Amino acid sequence: MPEKGLKELYIDELKDLYNAENQLLKALPKMAKAATSEDLSAGFEEHLEQTKGHVQRLDEIFKQLGESPKGKKCKGMEGLIEEGSEAIDEYDGELLDAALIGAAQRVEHYEMAGYGTVIAFAEELGKSDHVELLNQTLEEEKQTDAKLTDLAGDINAQANQEEESAEAVEADASDPGKHAAAKSNKKPRSAA
Ligand SMILES: [Fe+2]
Repeated sequence: MPEKGLKELYIDELKDLYNAENQLLKALPKMAKAATSEDLSAGFEEHLEQTKGHVQRLDEIFKQLGESPKGKKCKGMEGLIEEGSEAIDEYDGELLDAALIGAAQRVEHYEMAGYGTVIAFAEELGKSDHVELLNQTLEEEKQTDAKLTDLAGDINAQANQEEESAEAVEADASDPGKHAAAKSNKKPRSAA
């Protein structure tokens, strides 16, 4: 194995993030399109614009380093995005929104961990310009995560109501005799 130092590891991690951000650039429009809630959809659109800026900041850092940003596939992001698209296949309405928020928050936390790592490396390597750029991105990832938590409050409540009303419809539509029997079963038990 060729001898590598912290700088090589730093560049490797930056490449991983660069690939992760670019995968997310492709996924966010699909998530925005799939979301039922207008606020959630707008949130994904807004984060798409921010993500373009994250790629630009990484481009700037690679330029300063005289390195190519390409050459790594972020398998972690690939898996997280795949889980998000599974949610799109499996759920509808508010439940889908709740699932999309879960997927998006996993993405944000994954990115926050990645940026935390490269910021620590940049600090150790004395790259204060990089630290500043990477911190700006880290802050935006944190804000996005907080916004998703806010949106989840209402959306989870709606998803729960939707489920309750769906259950009520299901119960009415099911065999009314069985429904009545279930009710009548209750009486002698409570009487006993
Ligand atoms: Fe990002």
